[in-house]
Amino acid sequence: MSYKSLKEAISCTQTQQSSKFHYQDVLQTILVILAIIIGLGIVIGMPIFLIIYSEPPPTKFSVVKASIVRFNLASSNTLYYNFMVTITAKNFHSNIESYNKVTAIASYNGNQLASVKLAPFKISSKNIDTLEPIVFKGNTLMIFEPQQLVEYNKETQLGIYNLDFDLDLNYSDYHIHCPSLRVPLISNGKVAPTFNVTTCSYMDDRN
Ligand SMILES: *[C@@H]1O[C@H](CO)[C@@H](O)[C@H](O)[C@H]1NC(C)=O
Ligand SMILES: *[C@@H]1O[C@H](CO)[C@@H](O)[C@H](O)[C@H]1NC(C)=O
Repeated sequence: MSYKSLKEAISCTQTQQSSKFHYQDVLQTILVILAIIIGLGIVIGMPIFLIIYSEPPPTKFSVVKASIVRFNLASSNTLYYNFMVTITAKNFHSNIESYNKVTAIASYNGNQLASVKLAPFKISSKNIDTLEPIVFKGNTLMIFEPQQLVEYNKETQLGIYNLDFDLDLNYSDYHIHCPSLRVPLISNGKVAPTFNVTTCSYMDDRN
């Protein structure tokens, strides 16, 4: 084979190859565009699908305010307390949610304190309502492990007590649990630390 024909042969294969590459490029570009379109469809479509077809979440309860005016442990191991908890309820549904039998229960270090029956309340559709402040007042005999007594004394020094708060939604299989609220003691002449808003969670009572 002469040099010229060799060169022609090479240039010929090159053109063939380059045109083959061209087709591959076009094909690849189309595939990439298709993949992008499908990807975008999933990314945009899925949330829209989920928003349209999914159940809105259940009412969200949050503790927005809490303060203590009295939390004295007498030598008889009786705790004298007076504190207040304010909750909000957010209804995500487009219908009114009615709550007829709700009991609020407060506990401290595993000891149940007072429970308070709430007046029936309704939350209008897609709305957040602030419920009447719930006042826990009374005295309860405490059963403390030594360690819990140490904790009580520490919390007294700090002026913040760790309270647990539950809402018993009587007619459902769930109750609302708001654990470890750090509730400041409001005492005269001292600026109390602000209470941090806490979102409560649903606890399954069926098992
Ligand atoms: C819930 O309400 C029903 C009907 O009033 C009552 O019989 C039942 O004891 C209540 N359950 C609780 C856990 O309070
Ligand atoms: C609220 O949160 C802040 C920041 O995390 C914290 O410094 C403060 O102690 C908290 N307040 C109470 C009452 O726990």
